[in-house]
Amino acid sequence: MTNKTKTATLTFDGKTLELPMHSPSVGPDVIDIRKLYGQGDVFTYDPGFTSTAACDSSITYIDGNQGILLHRGYPIDQLTEKSHYLEVCYLLLYGELPTAESLEDFEMRVTNHTMLHEQMMNFFRGFRRDAHPMAIMTGVVGAMSAFYHDSTDINDPHQREVASIRMVAKMPTIAAMAFKYAQGQPFVYPRNDLDYASNFLRMCFSVPAEEYEVDPILARAMDRIFTLHADHEQNASTSTVRLAGSSGANPFACIAAGIACLWGPAHGGANQACLEMLGEIGSVDRIPEFIARAKDKNDPFRLMGFGHRVYKNFDPRATVLKESADEVLELLGIENNPKLQVAKALEKAALEDPYFKDKKLFPNVDFYSGIILEAMGFPTSMFTPIFALSRTVGWIAQWKEMLDDPQLKIGRPRQLYQGETFRDYVNVEDR
Ligand code: SDX
Repeated sequence: MTNKTKTATLTFDGKTLELPMHSPSVGPDVIDIRKLYGQGDVFTYDPGFTSTAACDSSITYIDGNQGILLHRGYPIDQLTEKSHYLEVCYLLLYGELPTAESLEDFEMRVTNHTMLHEQMMNFFRGFRRDAHPMAIMTGVVGAMSAFYHDSTDINDPHQREVASIRMVAKMPTIAAMAFKYAQGQPFVYPRNDLDYASNFLRMCFSVPAEEYEVDPILARAMDRIFTLHADHEQNASTSTVRLAGSSGANPFACIAAGIACLWGPAHGGANQACLEMLGEIGSVDRIPEFIARAKDKNDPFRLMGFGHRVYKNFDPRATVLKESADEVLELLGIENNPKLQVAKALEKAALEDPYFKDKKLFPNVDFYSGIILEAMGFPTSMFTPIFALSRTVGWIAQWKEMLDDPQLKIGRPRQLYQGETFRDYVNVEDR
């Protein structure tokens, strides 16, 4: 927290309060209201936390108006161009880009934790084959608390570090197992001679009956998707992880809570919902019908993959993914993919429409990611598990930062109560 430089004066009901203000390294100043209830006997009211800074953080900065996303100060377009996912994981977890030696050590530690406890196979087999992979991931990650007892004590820095590495290392294995289980195919073990993205593609798409060669261009595209989804300041699922962690819950339980929150179609589930929407639109000539529905206040339909709580400009991740979509589909010889054609025409139509322009609704990270993932052979049900896999390092980095914060308190919001005031119980015979 920076030194207090100025104050905000709040006057109401004949009272005047001086509230301290703090300035960030970049972004809006904050008004410190921690003493507001004690001094003024009032709460603030901010459902959805549209104007609330819930914590100090040094991990990720977003400028929604400029369409800027920085991880520890490095812009996302440079990281996706010049770095790779495990190096970005190191940056998010430890705050600096690694030296060649520390990167090699980190990659070795992750590689040596990619296998899952063998007995957890039984846990998978308890699910129906048509279970959504996100249901499986939420259950299996939560169940890791029952298998990795030597990394659940959050007060032990060593155990926190081991749990962090285990989560980053095992999420691709768990996601791939959920994919294989739904297909009725055998699980594929990770390989220590493959890079992170190649390992994941092989665990998803190889079968024992034949050799599987990872296409390096698809592996690069996969790694780029991981990097683009790695962290995004205090979004809904990250805030869920922080709130769960503030009670002292173990890291696996906290990440399972984050996975559950990410699943929602307003959040990480939007990539699956977006592809399903593009499929429902079906052809370019039906776009006006769907644009009209998205604008109709009486219709709950929204354009999936459009709009964002913070970005009121292009989501920089969507810009990178749009380029990747063209590359991957051209590589696969499906540049005429109908959903990509509909997506591009929909984007153009929406961005020319006053409703979307006035409300600053631009394509977000979920608009193009699904097109690439579908072209790579993933069913829509695997889109959000891949988002969860990628975001695990962000959740863990934020969780660690919270535990290291000397100001850590259990999160406990208050409310604007609108219910009944005091009344006495009425016996059933008198009702
Ligand atoms: C992610 O927070 C993060 O950082 C999330 C994320 C991350 O990396 O963690 O970036 C990942 O979740 C991306 C967002 C994916 N969700 C979708 O694509 C679902 C579709 N988008 C909407 O549901 C919506 O835009 C949200 C949920 C993303 C943001 O909603 P807000 O900020 O609460 O804005 P709002 O719902 O108050 O909308 C403002 C106005 C409303 O109209 P009015 O009531 O002012 O007249 O814009 C309209 C909304 O009706 N609007 C849309 C719209 N999104 C907002 N209208 C049509 N289609 C849309 N997609």
